[in-house]
Amino acid sequence: MSSDNHNSDSQDKNNQQKTSPFLTESLPQGTPQGQQQSLEQLSNGTNATAGTSTDTSSAIPKYNLPRGANTGNVGATTHFGYKTVDSTEKEQKVAEVFHSVASKYDLMNDLMSFGIHRLWKRFAIQMSGVRRGQQVLDIAGGTGDLAKVFSREVGETGHVVLSDINESMLNVGRDRLLDAGCTNVDFVLANAETLEPFADNSFDLVTISFGLRNVTDKDAALAAMYRVLKPGGRLLILEFSKPIFEPLSKLYDLYSFTALPVMGKLVANDSESYRYLAESIRMHPDQHTLKQMMQNAGFAQCDYHNLTGGIVAVHRGFKL
Ligand SMILES: C[S@@+](CC[C@H](N)C(=O)[O-])C[C@H]1O[C@@H](n2cnc3c(N)ncnc32)[C@H](O)[C@@H]1O
Repeated sequence: MSSDNHNSDSQDKNNQQKTSPFLTESLPQGTPQGQQQSLEQLSNGTNATAGTSTDTSSAIPKYNLPRGANTGNVGATTHFGYKTVDSTEKEQKVAEVFHSVASKYDLMNDLMSFGIHRLWKRFAIQMSGVRRGQQVLDIAGGTGDLAKVFSREVGETGHVVLSDINESMLNVGRDRLLDAGCTNVDFVLANAETLEPFADNSFDLVTISFGLRNVTDKDAALAAMYRVLKPGGRLLILEFSKPIFEPLSKLYDLYSFTALPVMGKLVANDSESYRYLAESIRMHPDQHTLKQMMQNAGFAQCDYHNLTGGIVAVHRGFKL
């Protein structure tokens, strides 16, 4: 199990040029952990303060990597909801979904789940065992629900990275957390399949909440999560899963395939993205399969807890 890790960065948290202990490359100088530059500016190499273009390319962590070497066992085609698509296309299609829904994402989450997603997330956070001083990576963290709580829990001696592949989602998360005064959080664009900006053995806790089903190569993502965890660290996966009661399953299907696209149309002017949500949930590995995949990636002591009759499950595993 992980132990408290008081790192020296916390002592000079106001130092503008500090580097993160878990990044393989420094963030651009003059930017406290990249928080004051927009992600667009980072990717353009544009300096936010001066409004001039600087060559920061060597200092910027790589992100949004195209699918490449680390594609594991994904074949030429994969699924995007119920559609069969070329494996190289899925990432772009998922990106379109989240660019489209980013501004309404939090509102839709509350409406669709009747606020219950907050309870699921609270349960996952309790299971995480997060402690003061720890290093936490929230992958596919989107608008930052988990990262916001982790920021408070790890305190000034700890550190949180809110990471996502999608700039629109991460922008919403970054604005929200900075408004909430979270000074110990980095915001890093990264593909879960590689987690390329992050060094090996960096984090006490890695989480991914409602993100894994969108990832094309889940085995590659699990391997990357294992790589960046410290020995003794833990992974927590909060994700839709398979309802364990048949009557609940039928009701849930009816709700998902009728109400969700209608709500999506009314609130976010996008019914297709919410149809994808319903379909992607059905295509995601069930509880047992996901546990097996975690074990295959090297995780030990894997277990899971069903929530709301298995509509959602929290999987946990350790890197020993
Ligand atoms: C349903 S949202 C979940 C957001 C947040 N974690 C939550 O629980 O509310 C799914 C997120 O996964 C992100 N995502 C999809 N594919 C990804 C990938 N390959 N790597 C990293 N993030 C990804 C999306 O951009 C989106 O922000």
